Amino acid sequence: MTNKSKLWGGRFTEKTAASVEAFTASIQYDGRLYKQDIAGSQAHAKMLVKQGLITAEEGEQIRRGLVDIEQEIEQGVFDFRPELEDIHMNIEKALVDKIGPAGARLHTARSRNDQINLDLRLYLREETEKLTALLVDVQTSFVKLAGKYLGAVMPGYTHLQRAQPLLVSHHMLAYYEMFGRDRERLLDCAKRINVLPLGAAALAGTGLPIDREFVAKELGFPKVTANSMDTVGDRDFAVEFVSACTLIQLHLSRLSEELVLWSTAEFNFVELADSFCTGSSIMPQKKNPDIPELIRGKSGRVVGNLMSLITMLKGLPLTYNRDLQEDKEPVFDTIDTVSQGLAITAELLANLKFNTGRLEEATRTGYMTATDLADYLVMKNIPFRQAHSIIGKTVAHCVENKKELTDLSLAELQQFSEVIEPDVFEVLTVEGSVDSRRSIGGTSIIRVTEALAEAERNLGL
Ligand code: ARG
Repeated sequence: MTNKSKLWGGRFTEKTAASVEAFTASIQYDGRLYKQDIAGSQAHAKMLVKQGLITAEEGEQIRRGLVDIEQEIEQGVFDFRPELEDIHMNIEKALVDKIGPAGARLHTARSRNDQINLDLRLYLREETEKLTALLVDVQTSFVKLAGKYLGAVMPGYTHLQRAQPLLVSHHMLAYYEMFGRDRERLLDCAKRINVLPLGAAALAGTGLPIDREFVAKELGFPKVTANSMDTVGDRDFAVEFVSACTLIQLHLSRLSEELVLWSTAEFNFVELADSFCTGSSIMPQKKNPDIPELIRGKSGRVVGNLMSLITMLKGLPLTYNRDLQEDKEPVFDTIDTVSQGLAITAELLANLKFNTGRLEEATRTGYMTATDLADYLVMKNIPFRQAHSIIGKTVAHCVENKKELTDLSLAELQQFSEVIEPDVFEVLTVEGSVDSRRSIGGTSIIRVTEALAEAERNLGL
């Protein structure tokens, strides 16, 4: 293609080097913004007609031309041309070829600098909603598990050492909360995404009589951006979006780690459905948790995407710089990775079984009611630090004699503190321990039942 036939070719006398065309093209990945690009152009053309910048007839030709182009893209017959660089110029050139002079008026009072900003905002606005729906699915899976296993106990860990007994449902609802915060973050970042950039033009606004508020209304933006220079150089909203996605990915990854661990023979806390595991090509006995492993493994690329994006922005002078084109691949890859991870996690959880017998058995060892015993002494007016030390000695005695706290007789217990009475046996049991934790946010059945009801209400279950 000669430069004279390129949309920006006027001032050029030489043809662009093929290597440059290949190096600068973004159509291989920004083609995915075609719908948003066309929607933006439709609203822009409508405004140009209303403002008398183009005729109603030209507006109608543009409208129909764009509808045709969208159809061609959807049917897979549109000819994407790398020498036309990006999605904006591919569509605009196709429009000019299709409808002639009217097509050449579409770019009036617009620059690709505000156009790409608009496309990205429209795209992220939709993706925010899709991700929210996926987060709701994952939360729903957790709430269902919490309901199904209400009452079942399991060991709780700190430092991955047995710490205190818990309800399985409490653990499930912990993840419900984490993914709930992810939804809030997306909602908050959507406020900054949802501002119309079009009309900033190249960097300084335009001298032509446009109506930005009209375009905002057409495209469902509650506000227009305030400063044209800030607008075309701004990708903060993309950073916020990718960073919200990174936290989603981290939550998925932490969950995956627990599933991998819990499905080992050593833990044997859960059973992943056969349909969600894969085998080994050499070891016939293997059933591997590849899904959670892959999700955990994909965290690297998501974190990397966030780093790419913020590093790309770091040294940029105002306003638009071509560096900004490098925003798309990290954003798109993040969306693809996190969406897939959420979707498969919701399915995996729906097919997950807890081995309640094994979980219960695991709470019986590891002196997990030691804190309860210390609290018992506190209730008998012994200062906590002293109680801690007394029970520490009691545990050491158990370790030495290969006993659990529950195996000790009243007389043995009383050797460590005379305030201990027969009522001690109520707090020594796993059930008693769990049931005593009634502070707000605690693991007692009363609190967890309330939390579960609240979660179900929130999700409309
Ligand atoms: N493909 C470009 C991008 O993604 C669109 C804007 C190009 N603007 C320019 N003046 N070359 O950023």
